[in-house]
Amino acid sequence: MCANKYQTIVVDPPWQYGAWGGSSGNYYTKSGARWKSHAGRVSEMKYPTMSLVDIEKLPVSSIAADNCELYLWVTQRYLPAAFRIVESWGFKYCQTLTWCKRPRGLGQGGVYCPTTEFIILGRRGRMPKVRRVDTTWWLVKRPLGPSVRKGESRYSHSTKPEVFQDIIETVSEPPRIELFARRERHGWDVWGNEVPCSIELGAQNNMESGSTAYNTQRDAIVPPPKVPADV
Ligand SMILES: C[S@@+](CC[C@H](N)C(=O)[O-])C[C@H]1O[C@@H](n2cnc3c(N)ncnc32)[C@H](O)[C@@H]1O
Repeated sequence: MCANKYQTIVVDPPWQYGAWGGSSGNYYTKSGARWKSHAGRVSEMKYPTMSLVDIEKLPVSSIAADNCELYLWVTQRYLPAAFRIVESWGFKYCQTLTWCKRPRGLGQGGVYCPTTEFIILGRRGRMPKVRRVDTTWWLVKRPLGPSVRKGESRYSHSTKPEVFQDIIETVSEPPRIELFARRERHGWDVWGNEVPCSIELGAQNNMESGSTAYNTQRDAIVPPPKVPADV
């Protein structure tokens, strides 16, 4: 598939974070003690990141069909920006979906250790109501990443559970595309610097963040949707 205009667009941008995700450069130990570290360093991410200005400049509206649903992944820190970006891409805010995770390891900056991530749903035009989903939150295990070191499976940084796209497929119409994808997915177009892209789309990284050259390594191709046991 390679459509010009999409009725479903999922975007998981490379937001910028401090060394441990906190805006202040603080991070927290398991006991709650606060450590000051890495102040002023913008990114310790395993991939290049983008400034808010550059994320906002992404030509998402140019690939959106007149009737289109947008799903924008975001964490606590960038929620206010995400609401603005959804509108600036030409979508009307509809709802917020929440991925609930069990606490694990060191907490990131903030009094409350973040155990949630969000998908902002925006819409433009009219979409047919295919079915009604009976919740806006899902408790889903962090996906195990493809990197296996010393025989141990490791949680993969920033990887989102496939179940969210399984659910999106049941309510939002094709053609569908995922921006900043890291693997191909049956029935979807994909775009990102870690997958063979279905389309061309300009995107600039903020090189001041310490971004390095694009990683061309590819993850495994994910099989067609399956229903997860732990939802
Ligand atoms: C938050 S991660 C996406 C995670 C993915 N949704 C998953 O579940 O595995 C952001 C991705 O954007 C990629 N990226 C960063 N800058 C980019 C750019 N300028 N153009 C394309 N992709 C970029 C990163 O390499 C990374 O793969």
